[in-house]
Amino acid sequence: CLQKTDAFLHRSIGTDVVVAQAEATRSDESDEKNGRKSLHTLHVERQEQAERSVLISCQTSTNEKKFLKYLTKHGEINKYFFYESYGVYAVVEFANQESVASLLEGVAIPGGSHESAVPFKSRLLSLRNLGSVDSSNQLSGWQCQPQTTIPINELIKRLSREESINKQISSLTEAYQLTEENSRLRFLVCSLLKDIATAYFPECTIKPFGSSVNGFGKLGCDLDMLLDLDSISGRNVKLPKSGLSLEYQMKRANSERAVTQSILSVIGKCIDQFGPGCVGVQKILNARCPLVRFAHQPSGFQCDLTANNRVAMKSTELLYLYGELDPRVRSLVFTVRCWARAHGVTSSIPGAWITNFSLTVMVLFFLQKRSPPIIPTLDHLRDLAGPADKSVIEGNDCTFVSDFNKIQLQSNTETQEQLLGEFFEFYATFPFSRMSLNIRKGKEQNKPEVAPLHIQNPFETSLNVSKNVNASQLDRFVALCQESAWLLQQSETSTPRGGGVGDEGAPTPWGLATLLLPSQVAGIKSRKKRRREPASERIKGLLESLKNKNQLKKS
Ligand code: CTP
Ligand code: MG
Repeated sequence: CLQKTDAFLHRSIGTDVVVAQAEATRSDESDEKNGRKSLHTLHVERQEQAERSVLISCQTSTNEKKFLKYLTKHGEINKYFFYESYGVYAVVEFANQESVASLLEGVAIPGGSHESAVPFKSRLLSLRNLGSVDSSNQLSGWQCQPQTTIPINELIKRLSREESINKQISSLTEAYQLTEENSRLRFLVCSLLKDIATAYFPECTIKPFGSSVNGFGKLGCDLDMLLDLDSISGRNVKLPKSGLSLEYQMKRANSERAVTQSILSVIGKCIDQFGPGCVGVQKILNARCPLVRFAHQPSGFQCDLTANNRVAMKSTELLYLYGELDPRVRSLVFTVRCWARAHGVTSSIPGAWITNFSLTVMVLFFLQKRSPPIIPTLDHLRDLAGPADKSVIEGNDCTFVSDFNKIQLQSNTETQEQLLGEFFEFYATFPFSRMSLNIRKGKEQNKPEVAPLHIQNPFETSLNVSKNVNASQLDRFVALCQESAWLLQQSETSTPRGGGVGDEGAPTPWGLATLLLPSQVAGIKSRKKRRREPASERIKGLLESLKNKNQLKKS
């Protein structure tokens, strides 16, 4: 009964939304010719793989051969891998979905005399006592795929061994980006949660968005998920003059937001009570964008589940597109994100800090400002859009081209190293007090409202992406940009140390590695005092103080 009444809730959301997107019919052939997949294709592929996959908790003593032999009884396996997260887990992708059904048919639901389990049959399984420990074939001897990044100290060492700053930037990107396995695991977790949500909304999907799929995600980043009810047949379809339509009068809510809150409240409760491995469930329904936050223990992901958040999906698509246009985009974003985290410019705790999303938009804006520009403006991408790309969400124009082949890039030959140095200089002297960053136009413009940092939201143009940032956080960012710009200009920092080793046998940090070391700009001077000096004076002062410090160290 509960299932039935709640199933009607979804009908009243999104009635004022015009989504003229023929996503499923979109042609992705041209993208793939260049080896570039659209985000849509990637989603379809990965979701389909996830549907055929199971997540199995294993014992470290499990014999891998026996493990595989046992599972192949249910069908052919396409891919599998192991990883560690509070124990060893395996992701197993079968060639056919029937194998998953066959596997689940035979599983036992645990329950003892003191405990009783909710009989929710999920694809999160536990495999025990499959043969004893023998030879080297036990799992502990097998490679577990890393699901987290290397610690910053390790990274600094690794970078210090590289022979150029360009190589350091590539090496950082390589070390931090999501792996194929991690991406599969993210889609699998969405698919497992979808199994819960479909109890209420049988045709819904749960899609990852944000850094899990936009190309800028670092191993260990949170998993942003969108409960997608748009794909339910009959939605956004004009009511016929005659014939059947769903009766939902009783379950209408007075706003789209209220419906989203009500759906997330129910799904959140369900995740809390029945979701295997989901712990610490918090319903944050009064946020601007209501969400359910929890930790998915078997994967180690911190999850944020939202609904009715189509604009965020659009901005994910946009970031993905920019990242695919030129490899320098992703590597600069990774480098800047890592640098910002190392200096506490960004934080995992919400607050007045600059967010990774804001930082990414800042990198994109900077790349649009190069001469010639490395990436086009959003307005240009909108002008290139075809009819299938049209998208208007709650009155906001979210249209932009999806076919990579329509986008002509200008030939900018700047190296990653040059761009990194220029990035720091650009923001070390940017007139933040007067100007707002606008990636739609690729130009700064007068601030429409008072805020220390103003970055126009690319789709909801009346909003400021960095509204949360306070003056002292912006000051810190600017001071660190000045310091890093300066460090990159010093021959001492910007050339390899010829394999020299420091006290503990570690290579002497140089280049990008130096920029990740604790900052020498100690406490930031008071804002008032610094404001009176022009930027060049400030940099001069900074240079002096750094030189003095270096001399002190040498003596
Ligand atoms: N988003 C947005 N507007 C904002 C904040 C976020 O459109 N003001 C969208 C972006 O598409 C963003 C996604 O929501 O990528 C997820 O937000 P968040 O988790 O804060 O950022 P991520 O890009 O996922 O970065 P992180 O790795 O820090 O999670
Ligand atoms: Mg995120």
